[in-house]
Order: sequence, then structure tokens, then C-alpha cells
Amino acid sequence: MGRDVFYLTTPIYYPNDVPHIGHAYDAVAADVIARYHRLAGEEVFHLTGTDEHGLKLQRAAEAAGKDPQVWVDEMEPRWREVWSRLDIAYDDYIRTTEPRHHAAVEKLLRAVYENGRDDVYLDHYEGLYCVACEAYYVEADLVDGLCPIHARPVELFREENYFFRLSAYRDRLLEHYTANPLAVQPEARRNEVLSTIRGGLQDFSISRTSFQWGIPLPWDPKHITYVWFDALTNYITAAGYADDPERFARLWPANVHVIGKDILRFHAIYWPAMLMAAGLEPPMQVWAHGFLTVGGQKMSKTNATGIHPFELLDHFGVDSYRYYFMREIQFGQDGNFSWESMVERHNADLANGLGNLASRVLAMLASYFDGRVPEPFAEVESDLPAVAADAASRFRSHMESVAPTQAIAAVWEIVTRANQYLVEREPWKVAGEADRRTELGGILYAAAEALRILAVLISPVMPGAAGRLWSQLGIEEPLSSQRLPEAAEWGRLRPGITTSRGEPLFPRLES
Ligand code: MSP
Repeated sequence: MGRDVFYLTTPIYYPNDVPHIGHAYDAVAADVIARYHRLAGEEVFHLTGTDEHGLKLQRAAEAAGKDPQVWVDEMEPRWREVWSRLDIAYDDYIRTTEPRHHAAVEKLLRAVYENGRDDVYLDHYEGLYCVACEAYYVEADLVDGLCPIHARPVELFREENYFFRLSAYRDRLLEHYTANPLAVQPEARRNEVLSTIRGGLQDFSISRTSFQWGIPLPWDPKHITYVWFDALTNYITAAGYADDPERFARLWPANVHVIGKDILRFHAIYWPAMLMAAGLEPPMQVWAHGFLTVGGQKMSKTNATGIHPFELLDHFGVDSYRYYFMREIQFGQDGNFSWESMVERHNADLANGLGNLASRVLAMLASYFDGRVPEPFAEVESDLPAVAADAASRFRSHMESVAPTQAIAAVWEIVTRANQYLVEREPWKVAGEADRRTELGGILYAAAEALRILAVLISPVMPGAAGRLWSQLGIEEPLSSQRLPEAAEWGRLRPGITTSRGEPLFPRLES
């Protein structure tokens, strides 16, 4: 495989409404993973964007009394502004209404249509459609007669559609997933996908004639491309499928599609089969996280659980926001958001944990050494270097396997150990004894070195706080130039540089 770039994607979001914290959850997770890979010295291509076609969008535009294009042009910036406040550093932003995407969808459609295996055929279809999902269901899928995901009524559609012969891909998909055990994660989701495939696959329709808002099929333009066929293609559009073969060879297949579990079947069944039908490789991994609830309830506008990220950002700040969702909710499982747990995490882990460690060490450096980093002192024995080395190595392996929650927990072992270390060594007492000056320096060197390593390791999760801590430590080389694993090696902090106290990293919040 000629790839030398780490290519990671988020789903593309429907801009029929503004984002809530559930949407922001996978955007943040993907950004943390992307930043980690940059820190590990890899070239990264992080893609996100908006899914702007389909019946759902057309109806939202109609309801707003606007032309669909005008509507999506108005809505899309409201997503980007959230990503910007969340410090999401994507490398490309795709809108499915862009010409480059139109070209890629046409190219993929043609490749599948003309593959010589009769994978696309015309038929009539009658079925139950959920517009919120943009998907058909059979009676057995419904819960109390409603869509199993949105608990909303489905609509009976009868149309002439082009179909994709998904049923023919059963064995190839099984072979793919057997040969690549990590291609769907976590394990529970992989098993779900395997059992769906084993249970037999239904062909799915790839075109609609009942509405206009989308990309016409190149061979029969009264048919509009099914929005999921259109949307999934974004991942190859941005990699240069239609317009840049060299770039496409470097980027494809993607390393990981980060998605929520509700859209697993599209990503782990439809998408690889579509790619196989076009003679392209499937993505290397699909990582499906769990669902967030608020007060134990599904998020929605109607019950006031659809919290906009700004509500939390205004209160907690971006670093605490990113930390909370990655640390509190086990990535891969469902989890509940609550204000109480967020305040608790902020105060315990950030204000009292890392923030307090930083302010104590920087304050002591200021009072005892005029802010200068003292010399390390070998006689000051401590397990801190070993704890840091071990935590850094576990941090890396967890990040490599898309386990940000465990990665952060490993880093916090350094915070805890460094705080204990100060309590044990009592530098504030040592400072009172004139003949123990070298020892005092050694203690504070070790504590400051732990802070330096912490700044490096937290930087994918809390880039802003990491940057502030880094500049308080007075290190000349920019944080962005640091690379793992070397940057986490003990002893790289240079004695003599000048630290400064600065503002607290995480001011305590009232509950
Ligand atoms: N447009 C499709 C995706 C196409 S990708 C080729 C879509 N969009 S969406 O806006 O409805 O959802 C985007 C992402 O937000 C999905 O990964 C979905 O799982 C995630 N979330 C939406 N609500 C969520 C929660 N309550 N909790 C966690 N993630 C959730 O689907």
C-alpha cells in the first residue's frame, strides 16, 4: 500500500439544523485522534464537512421558505463556527454541493454501473421510509410502528429506483472482515456487522424520483442519487478520486472513519461494497462510538435535551469541554451528559489535579529560584520518571487503538503521582533549610519536568491549555514542534530557562 498519510474522517453532518453536543462528540474525538497522530510525527489528513442533499434537507429548506442551496449556504457556517470554537483543526472541509463532489459521485456511479457485473438494476420499490434517517425500513425493524432510531412515523414510498446489488457482496464482505479483524471497532460493533452480513443482505436503492435536491444519475437524470450513496462518496472526493489520481493513491484507503453507532450499517456494509463494486479498496477501519444521552434521554429539541455546544463552552471553556467528553464517556460506549458530572470533572481533575500541580510548582519556582528551572539532582530519588515513561507509553498505545478515554486516564497517573511527590518531599519545608538547596532544586526540577511531559501529552486533548502551560514553562521551541516518543523522554527540560506563574490553567467552578 503506497499510503504515507494518516487519513481520518468524521461523518459529514446534515445542516438542516444547528449542531448539538452529540454531533460535537465525534468531531472532538476525531480531532483528538488527528492531533495525536500529528504529535507522533505523521502527516495527517483530517476531513470533515456537511451532507447537504436529500429529502430531509429539501424539506427543511421548504419549511424555512428557502431554496435548498440558499438554505444550506446559510446553515453550513453555523457548523463551522462551532468547530472553530471547539479547536477542531480539520485539513479539509467538504460540502456535498461542491462541484468536486458532484464529479466524484458521477465517477463512482459510472464505475459501479459499468463494472460488467450488472450490479445496478432498475426496479420498483415500495417501502417504509424514515426521512430523518434517509433510509428504508421493513415492518420488523420498527418499534411500536415508529423508526427505531428517531421514534418518528415512517412514510410509505412507492417509486421506481435503481438498485445496487448488495446481496452479491456477502462473501466478499465476510472475507474482508475475516482478514481484517480491526476493520470495524469496537468488538461489539464488529460482531453486529458480521451477524448482519451473515444473515443475508438486501439490495438497496441508489436513486430516487420523488424529489429533486441532489445529484442526477449520469445515465438517467430524472433519477436523483440516494443521499447516502452521495454522502459516503465524500470520503473519496476529498482524497482526489475524480481529479487527482496521485493524491488519491497516497490517501486512499482512509485509516479510519470515526462515526456514531447509528450509521454503522452504511459505513461498514454499504460503503465497502460500493467501493468493491468500483474496484476500490474499502477503508482500513470504521470506528463506531456510542450515543450520548442527556438526563438519560435521547437528545432532542422537543424535550430540551438538544444542548448546543456553546452553552457548555461559555461556561467551561474549550479545554474543559474536550477533556470532559473524552474522559467521562468511555469511547465506544453510550454515556450520559450531566452538568453535575461536568463540574465535578472540571474541579477534580483539572482545577485541583493538573491546574493545582502547575500553579504550585510554578509558584515555588518563582519564590525559591526567581522562576529559573534548577539543576536536576540525582540524589533525589523518585519513581516519577518511571511513572511518566510508563504512562506515556500506554498513552501512545491507547491513542493508536483509538481509545482516548484510556489514554487520558494513563496521563492522569502522572498528575496524581506528581502531586503526591510534592506532598512526600515537602519542598516548602526543604526551602527553609539553607544546606538543602541542591535537593530543593532537584525536587522542583522533577516536578517541572513532569509538567513539561504533561503539556506534551495533553496537547491532543486540550491544545489551548497545553500551549499555556508550555509558555508558562518558558520553553523556547514551540509545542507544535514536539514529537512523540522523544518529547516524553525524561530529562529534556533545560535547567536555567525562566518560567512564569501566569493565570491558573483551570479556575475552579461553583457547582
Ligand atoms: N449525514 C449523515 C452522515 C453521513 S456520513 C457519510 C448523518 N449526519 S448527522 O448529522 O445526523 O449525524 C452525524 C454524527 O453525529 C453521526 O456520527 C451521529 O452518530 C452523531 N450523533 C448524533 N447524535 C448523537 C448523540 N446523541 N450522541 C453521539 N453521537 C451522535 O448521520
